[in-house]
Amino acid sequence: MVQAIGIDVGGTLTKIAYFTKDQQLKLIHFPSVNLQEVSDWIVSMKEDVQIGLTGGRAEQLKMFLRSHENLHYLVEFDATVAGVNYQLKKDGHNFSDAIITNIGTGTSIHLLNANQHKRIAGTGIGGGTLLGMSTLMTGIHQFDEIVQHSANGRRSEVDMLVSDIYFGNKTPIDGGLTASNFGDVGLTPHLVRSKEDILATVQGLVGEVISTLSIQCAVAENVEHIVYIGSTLSGNEPLQNVIGNYTSRKSRTPIFLSDNGYSGAIGALLSKYDVN
Ligand SMILES: Nc1ncnc2c1ncn2[C@@H]1O[C@H](COP(=O)(O)OP(=O)(O)OP(=O)(O)O)[C@@H](O)[C@H]1O
Ligand SMILES: [Mg+2]
Repeated sequence: MVQAIGIDVGGTLTKIAYFTKDQQLKLIHFPSVNLQEVSDWIVSMKEDVQIGLTGGRAEQLKMFLRSHENLHYLVEFDATVAGVNYQLKKDGHNFSDAIITNIGTGTSIHLLNANQHKRIAGTGIGGGTLLGMSTLMTGIHQFDEIVQHSANGRRSEVDMLVSDIYFGNKTPIDGGLTASNFGDVGLTPHLVRSKEDILATVQGLVGEVISTLSIQCAVAENVEHIVYIGSTLSGNEPLQNVIGNYTSRKSRTPIFLSDNGYSGAIGALLSKYDVN
């Protein structure tokens, strides 16, 4: 019998975590546009299940769950950090200080300092930007499709690298860095770019803005590890590559968790047990 569930109601996705009766961690998600569906799923669980609830749209889900008695609200960032700590341990990592960058609909950046944490930065560039720009520029709006097409694209005729500007001459900084995301388009507007190339470049833009900001935070706070989480990374190898490569290039250590979208839900679940 399931004793407890953790729910993170995000701007785009509602993530749910629970332990099955043989103590396996089970993770599922629903679109947040249909909270009735989420509520129906919860009601189908046994009646007195304990619920740990977090996320920006938690209050909205609460309205659907009015009659539920065992409901406990957690501050989103506390739940997320609790989940990240659990996942780091589970994945075999062993460090106590890190930058945590949560790439949800938007992106929020936290400093984790030996179990203390504070929000230090954020940007509106996030998973919503990936979906929105991809839709506007290519008409493709399904996340999985965007990821798949972008994996087959090349950024070289859309972006402009530092080495493109210096045209074979010695560059003052790493020539392989992006000088201008989408910067090649304005200079060669007659070139037709494929959907694949455009989507790869959108992933590049999103990944580079987020990693640049995260790296600056890591440098300012003097920490080595940057843990990137959020469903935007789920099955999204091209974005993980952009972020991973850029972070390593700047001498910081990127960490991707195995269940990257579920930290908040896991943290909310753990609050119902006495596990750290
Ligand atoms: N099945 C999916 N449907 C829609 N978006 C998806 C899906 N899988 C992954 N994504 C990506 O994940 C992003 C949402 O990530 P996440 O679930 O971490 O955010 P959220 O918690 O809903 O938002 P926030 O934390 O900003 O309130 C989407 O913007 C999209 O880029
Ligand atoms: Mg979220």
